[in-house]
Amino acid sequence: MIGTPITKAMAGAVLYIDLDAVRSNYRTLVDQLGGVPSAAVVKADGYGLGADRVGPVLVAAGCQVFFVAHLAEGIALRATLPNTEIHILNGLLPDALDAYREHELVPVLGSLGDLTHWKSFCADAPLPCDIHVDTGMLRLGLPPDELDTLADAPDMVKDLDIRFVMSHLASADEPASDQNLAQLAAFTRARKILPMGQACFANSSGIFLGPDYHFDMARPGVALYGANPTPGRPNPMMPTVTLKGRISQVRHATPGETVGYNATYRIQDKALIATVSVGYADGYLRSLSSVASGMIDGIIVPLVGRVSMDLISFDVSAVPEAKRQPGQWIELLGPNITVDTLAATAGTIGYEILTSLGRRYHRVYTGGVT
Ligand SMILES: Cc1ncc(COP(=O)(O)O)c(C=O)c1O
Repeated sequence: MIGTPITKAMAGAVLYIDLDAVRSNYRTLVDQLGGVPSAAVVKADGYGLGADRVGPVLVAAGCQVFFVAHLAEGIALRATLPNTEIHILNGLLPDALDAYREHELVPVLGSLGDLTHWKSFCADAPLPCDIHVDTGMLRLGLPPDELDTLADAPDMVKDLDIRFVMSHLASADEPASDQNLAQLAAFTRARKILPMGQACFANSSGIFLGPDYHFDMARPGVALYGANPTPGRPNPMMPTVTLKGRISQVRHATPGETVGYNATYRIQDKALIATVSVGYADGYLRSLSSVASGMIDGIIVPLVGRVSMDLISFDVSAVPEAKRQPGQWIELLGPNITVDTLAATAGTIGYEILTSLGRRYHRVYTGGVT
């Protein structure tokens, strides 16, 4: 993170973050849940939007339960959100147990080893924890054999203050995938063995799989930030981010000249090439080279040549002269070029576009908590 605050005057691009849209997205998800409450996943700095900014907005919208991946993220969030539940997804860190207690953070326990550590750590006064059951990701959570061990040895969870028993869906964005039903069956079985606390299962796309997947609490992330949780169908969420890059130079190019590293783009007809101070170091992915577009005043401007670390080039020949001068803005992401569109163009997912949003942009937050 650059120490100096980045003013609009000095920035190569401005990132507008619409906090009212985040709030509206939370409400849309709660409506979809039909009475089941929803937590919010704000890991990776609120999927790139700023957990310290989206957190209070979500609290104002009624959210009381937050999930982050790392202990350090939880400690930072605790300073912003004093009176909420903050859960740490990525397993217990046995050398940092005091930090959970000090900052009132709830670890998500994912193995019998985690259970044993936590149980002995808070033997005198139980502290809240969650249990994650792996229902098909081979990533985090109790594997089936450890769940069977628990079934035969219920004392292992006796005296634990279990807040949530949870699992995570691997293919919820593919409603037709058999894996959804298989994970639902595995989770339902896990709940029979671990009936304590509340059941927490659905991520953003899981909420749209229907009430069977809702249980007691949902756990969405990406939909809050505007990405489509129902790929292939209209996006029920509102866009939350707009990125505008500033033209720093405009060059007259003649046929045969080439643009950028390795001369991958050759000028065919006379053209005007605008340079913008955004690059892959800002999360504008290199895989967007020669395939992405920007927009100026409703006109699509193709990105030409390779994305450099700090610069990109657009062919602005089709743009009226007044709108293609140095200092003018090109939409790189926003109402016309959505997170999902840019992700598809880059060959990735909206999650990566959002969580890569750069630290060199001037950030403008609109709406939110007043
Ligand atoms: C364990 C867990 N729960 C919930 C989420 C939120 O998922 P989504 O962003 O798809 O809503 C994630 C995100 O990766 C996760 O890892």
